[in-house]
Amino acid sequence: MSDQLHAYRAALLYSLDDPASVGVAASYRHLEDGLLLVADGRIRALGPAAELLPGLAPTVAVRHWPDALITPGFIDTHIHYPQTGIVGAGGEQLLDWLSRHTYPTELRFADRDYAEQVARFFIGELLRNGTTSALVFPTVHPESVDAFFAVAAELDLRMLCGKVLMDRNAPPALCDTPASGYEQSQALIERWHGKGRLGYAVTPRFAGSCSDEQLHLAGRLLREHPGVHLHTHLAENRREVSWVRSLFPERSSYLDVYAHHGLVGPRSLFAHAIHLGEQDCRQLAASGAAVAFCPTSNLFLGSGLFDLGRAERLGLKVGIGSDIGAGTSFSLLQTLNEAYKVEQLQGRSLDPFKALYLATLGGARALGLDGRIGSLAPGHEADFVVLDWNATPLLQFRLQQAQSLAERLAVLLTLGDDRVVQETFVAGVSRHRREG
Ligand code: GUN
Ligand code: ZN
Repeated sequence: MSDQLHAYRAALLYSLDDPASVGVAASYRHLEDGLLLVADGRIRALGPAAELLPGLAPTVAVRHWPDALITPGFIDTHIHYPQTGIVGAGGEQLLDWLSRHTYPTELRFADRDYAEQVARFFIGELLRNGTTSALVFPTVHPESVDAFFAVAAELDLRMLCGKVLMDRNAPPALCDTPASGYEQSQALIERWHGKGRLGYAVTPRFAGSCSDEQLHLAGRLLREHPGVHLHTHLAENRREVSWVRSLFPERSSYLDVYAHHGLVGPRSLFAHAIHLGEQDCRQLAASGAAVAFCPTSNLFLGSGLFDLGRAERLGLKVGIGSDIGAGTSFSLLQTLNEAYKVEQLQGRSLDPFKALYLATLGGARALGLDGRIGSLAPGHEADFVVLDWNATPLLQFRLQQAQSLAERLAVLLTLGDDRVVQETFVAGVSRHRREG
């Protein structure tokens, strides 16, 4: 893209830090009538429109949304693209849901054309919902990774993905072997990692579907390719936890299965982490690893309530995850709406600025991508969304009674979904514009 300057005028809001560390007031920056200057895919400057407009060359076109809020693009720290077609398939908890709904649908992703068709639809949904980056599960098939990365590359999205490793306890057609999983992952890392904005995540599905040998080779991939990420599931469901204990009797805990193979470190992300002892939680925090809080999924599958308060107390990095297809919405606004309720059920509340942090800067930190995405500060990649305060009659009516920014933001998180996302920019380029 050209290094021509583009200017966007609206209210601007972004997180500076975690409200749990610095307090709410110091955790964000808000400009009521701001100007965002973008060139060459990056944010060049921002400030009050009244200050920046006079200095702008007359050739720079200014797009103005008088009734909108610009925030960084949302970051989904845990999602499965092949499960787009099974959202809402209910009736079971995790292990039965995997056998009945998930594995049958994942079998279809051996077909590269089908995988690409779903990847294209999936990425369209992300953009419609204001999500500009995600850590994504494909399937065991290398074709499913190629398809996903090819579509993401076309749109210059910052995305993380990596072939699922699973060599047992699943239909044979979905299983690799430790050796084939290792070799295919290596080839995919060489093909995709660091290409444009793409990054690779070594992705053992979960301890229940991986042998010791496979987990050992996953650790080797991480050691041999220091920049790649690790993505897996951890302690999501009580039956799963006791089953994993029976599969690995020599390990002291579910987390220890991963730690034993060198999979717990600063580039690791564990989805769910609900049924976890205090000691494991401390170990995760000390390692610099992150967890994904997936409230719609945890409620849909009846998995349990994630303890965000404990994560804050122990300094454990947390991002928000839709976990489509166990999760029920692509919208991170709706996901945060459910996170609020999960907090309420545990006697706490979710501050709207903490919610903003989880979906933006907190997600970037969880993925080790802070400094690049998750913020509107100059130098960051220009992934941002334009959110329409008047998207629905109810929002419009409700916001007439809302005074403060905190209250308006809380209402947006409660009532908002894809309808509020007016436009989504990726590396400075508009990639979704709502009709109407
Ligand atoms: N654990 C292992 N595989 C999966 C999956 O596909 N979804 C969820 N929610 N948990 C898992
Ligand atoms: Zn998942």
